[in-house]
Amino acid sequence: MLTVALPKGRIAQETLEIFETIFGTAFVFDDRKLILETPDFRFLLVRNQDVATYVYHQAADIGVVGLDTLEEQGLDVIRLLDLCRGRCKVAIGMRKGETLDLSKPEIKVATKMVNITKRYFAERAVAADVIKLYGSIELAPLVGLADMIVDIVETGATMKQNGLEVVETIMESSTYLIANKNSFFEKKSEVLDIYEKINASLKKD
Ligand code: PRP
Repeated sequence: MLTVALPKGRIAQETLEIFETIFGTAFVFDDRKLILETPDFRFLLVRNQDVATYVYHQAADIGVVGLDTLEEQGLDVIRLLDLCRGRCKVAIGMRKGETLDLSKPEIKVATKMVNITKRYFAERAVAADVIKLYGSIELAPLVGLADMIVDIVETGATMKQNGLEVVETIMESSTYLIANKNSFFEKKSEVLDIYEKINASLKKD
């Protein structure tokens, strides 16, 4: 029996569809239930930012989460497989027409991805003032809270509609199948079996 942590929303749906294709049965959560038990799997519905936490603490054996979130959290889990879904990037956005000048003193950056942002500027020996926000990041440069933002860009529509544009891509992201390190050894055959089945089903796409 493997416990699988899935992030609520589209990724959970897409992952369950992969399982349905592989096993030929429907995997559907009842209304508001957060656990779905089947003979071989126990699926958990968690917040996207909590998937790696469940897996790291072995409350789940495997999980599905975006690479951007993994990089931001830095938890020690095994990255088994790129599911090639949920493609997006983490990028620096500025007001249209502005250019990124890392030599400018006192750079203020608003983001919900504080660790990725701090790492990016530290690697370039730039002392940026990183301001943590929890959402609506695109607002920050419009009202003078920050000079730029570091945020997720999927279609680019949110930045565009708020008069911002990408000036630099920090990383490309997609969803990954991850595993707890102990589970990987304790339940190796089960983990590798589902890994291989998912990998094979992705190749058919
Ligand atoms: C992300 C991100 C942007 C938006 C980008 O937020 O913070 O606001 O999506 O998508 P786009 O390029 O397709 O416009 P999300 O919807 O994940 O909400 P959150 O702020 O609650 O995390």
